[in-house]
Amino acid sequence: TLQATFYGHTYDNPFMNASGVHCMTMTELDALADSAAGSFVTKSATAEAREGNPEPRYVNVDLGSINSMGLPNLGLDYYLDYAIKRQASHPDQPFVMSVASYQGFDEYVANMRKIQESDYTGLVELNLSCPNVPGKPQMAYDFEDTDRLLTEIFAFYTKPFGVKLPPYFDIMHFDKIAAVLNQFDLKFVNCINSIGNGLYIDEVTDTVVIKPKGGFGGIGGEYVKPTALANVRALKQRLNPSIEIIGTGGILTGRDAYEHLLCGASMLQVGTQLEKEGLGVFERLTKELLAILEAKGYASIAEFKGMLGTL
Ligand code: DHB
Repeated sequence: TLQATFYGHTYDNPFMNASGVHCMTMTELDALADSAAGSFVTKSATAEAREGNPEPRYVNVDLGSINSMGLPNLGLDYYLDYAIKRQASHPDQPFVMSVASYQGFDEYVANMRKIQESDYTGLVELNLSCPNVPGKPQMAYDFEDTDRLLTEIFAFYTKPFGVKLPPYFDIMHFDKIAAVLNQFDLKFVNCINSIGNGLYIDEVTDTVVIKPKGGFGGIGGEYVKPTALANVRALKQRLNPSIEIIGTGGILTGRDAYEHLLCGASMLQVGTQLEKEGLGVFERLTKELLAILEAKGYASIAEFKGMLGTL
């Protein structure tokens, strides 16, 4: 069995979409819910609906993708309304609501306050790592602001939530973010968002391939797997055991999924490969991962989760 336990619920399998892919509209969200994915997450919502950055703003390339979407979304009320209705109609199929901010600190707080005051009681993924808003830094690269923000939110917020993190590249930074996060009753962290502000160049035109920010954008896909695995592993080793990990980044095959689980992930999100392959990716990944478990003689994910070998 591929059953995955995450924050008190058992899912048929650990696979979800990564926020931003196939999750903008109710139609897309319902299709995810009806797919072979174990669960799903909504597009990161801002207080007001947004058109996002000018196109082209997402491009698939051989080894992954580059994007600078700029938080296009239908607004917090839209996703909150969907979440409340979905929770009432399908109480046995939990999902995750992603919440971001366009303006910065105060909007994060206001968005969480609105959810606190709503009837939605399910999981929220607070996105501290959008790299694509011109002039706005990624919140989770500022450890003091992240500490201040979580302190302010935990002063009033009583429902379960976790945070979506950007990739870190220095051992000191793993130590620092873990020390901040361990002060709070977070239910999960999701590692990683895209590797921010990469640059891809078209070899025919000698130009960048996306329009916003002079071509700089978040990198996903095969490029990011080693970074993602390192972040899942490093955070798993440092965080309170009560904080679960969602592994995201470079999951194209059952083997990639297996490696994220070895590093300690409980759930797994698929972004670039879902965009490239469509919803059928979830059936393929579940088959490939199940075949690996069978070949290795494991009856369940619990038998190897977090058990990465070292030399
Ligand atoms: C966008 C990109 C992200 O990586 C993210 O976490 C949130 C939003 C975007 O550009 O829309």
